[in-house]
Amino acid sequence: MHKDVESILVSENELKEIVTHLAGQIDKDYEGKDLLMIGVLKGSVLFMADLMKTMESDFKIDFVVVSSYANGTESTGRVNVLKDVSQSVEGKDLLIVEDIIDSGNTLNFLVQYFYAKKANSVKIVTLFDKPDRRQVEIPVDYVGKVIPDAFIVGYGLDYAEDYRTLPYVGILKPEIYS
Ligand code: IMP
Ligand code: MG
Repeated sequence: MHKDVESILVSENELKEIVTHLAGQIDKDYEGKDLLMIGVLKGSVLFMADLMKTMESDFKIDFVVVSSYANGTESTGRVNVLKDVSQSVEGKDLLIVEDIIDSGNTLNFLVQYFYAKKANSVKIVTLFDKPDRRQVEIPVDYVGKVIPDAFIVGYGLDYAEDYRTLPYVGILKPEIYS
């Protein structure tokens, strides 16, 4: 285990089980639809890659980069699009792929953003959900795992760009960010 990690919250095996379960649900729900999965970089990258490999249906992918955290652990509430999708979303069925929902600000913004660009439908799959921290209520269609209010890292999730490459998800020692 990494020295800055207090404990492992989700093991590699459990991550695999979560992804398999979500992939099955999404495959079933989007049968016959023109699905475009939009990953929110960079945190969702490993989760999305594993979903892509596990899902059996055919779909297209794109990515956005947004920022609301300025290298800290608290949402600023203001969301900026730093990199937009590279195709039209008009008339398409979108599934936003996120690593974790915390305040809800990022996804609340993105859902409205894509509807404004005339998407046919916009749904959300998130690997983790921290409902205790929600500032804006948003409907989340697929949740991998509900977790307590702790700052987690690994499997794509970072603190100040570190720890993304850990193969498991761990709780970061509070002294690292306080
Ligand atoms: P929200 O806009 O507050 O819902 O924040 C969502 C974004 O904050 C996620 O995409 C993550 O990048 C980041 N985030 C929130 N909680 C954590 C955490 O515990 N670890 C790492 N990143 C987090
Ligand atoms: Mg993120």
